[in-house]
Amino acid sequence: MHQNKNQNAPLHVPVLLQEVLQYLDPAPGNSYLDLTAGYGGHASEVLARTNAPQRTTLVDRDENAISILKGQFNHGEQLIHADFQTASIDLSADGTTYDLILADLGVSSPHLNDAHRGFMFSEDGPLDMRMDQRQTLSASDIVNHWDEDKIAGILKRYSEEPKAKRIANLIVAARPITTTAQLADIVKQAWPGYSRSHPATRTFQALRIAVNDELGQLERSLPLWLDMLAPGGRLAVISFHSLEDRIVKQFLANAAGDRYDAELLLLTKRPVVAGTNELVTNPRARSAKLRAAVKK
Ligand SMILES: C[S@@+](CC[C@H](N)C(=O)[O-])C[C@H]1O[C@@H](n2cnc3c(N)ncnc32)[C@H](O)[C@@H]1O
Repeated sequence: MHQNKNQNAPLHVPVLLQEVLQYLDPAPGNSYLDLTAGYGGHASEVLARTNAPQRTTLVDRDENAISILKGQFNHGEQLIHADFQTASIDLSADGTTYDLILADLGVSSPHLNDAHRGFMFSEDGPLDMRMDQRQTLSASDIVNHWDEDKIAGILKRYSEEPKAKRIANLIVAARPITTTAQLADIVKQAWPGYSRSHPATRTFQALRIAVNDELGQLERSLPLWLDMLAPGGRLAVISFHSLEDRIVKQFLANAAGDRYDAELLLLTKRPVVAGTNELVTNPRARSAKLRAAVKK
């Protein structure tokens, strides 16, 4: 795994790694599709077991992740720099199927640790939040150009923000807003009292989901992943917030329903979460939920 030279620490520590290996159960020769390959933490462990680089496809929409993956995986793996919906449409159109499919959703640690990407407000940065920097829509466009109702709508839908209307009103009144710290201060005005987490956390989550169309990508891709699973193939999805988990849970429950023609068998009746040891070493694992299924 690539190391962060300054701290001699990995750029991104994969969550629920042992659990992913348990549920995907990679075997020599298995084909593998990693839809969010990131910094290759899960992929390198899966590949160590399948030993089938030429039957491996790694997808990520982030350019930095892809350039690191290119250095790490150079034994014939297919690398695709695209969002996973686009990649899945293209791959399924070719009739490609896989024995193992993994989606570890959301952002990577480098997204959060680099203030210039604009995902965080603890350090000031531009209002960006694009995972794919070729994309035109950024957080700045939403904050500075969308109308108040539309902003309130995403705050309600994507983060269940109780003060969505008030925050949208404050945002529109404060334009132009150029940095993450500035936005966080504006949101704080709607929540003057004490709160355990910074009140802007929900607003930042909602903006990030909207900028990257995270829920839409997931909803439209799950059926394609089901199509691309080979018979007996296994799908594992890790989500990081309840909106994502609900989509995954409902899709899997529906495909594994109590019908003669159900296509999937659930491997996880309940979501698998991180154990205490992992939580101590990897705080990102706190909200991770893994669900897995096998194709009949
Ligand atoms: C949680 S990290 C994955 C880390 C990876 N499993 C590892 O072990 O290094 C999520 C990655 O998925 C990518 N990503 C998120 N949503 C995506 C999407 N819709 N299409 C493609 N890549 C996506 C992000 O750019 C990020 O690199």
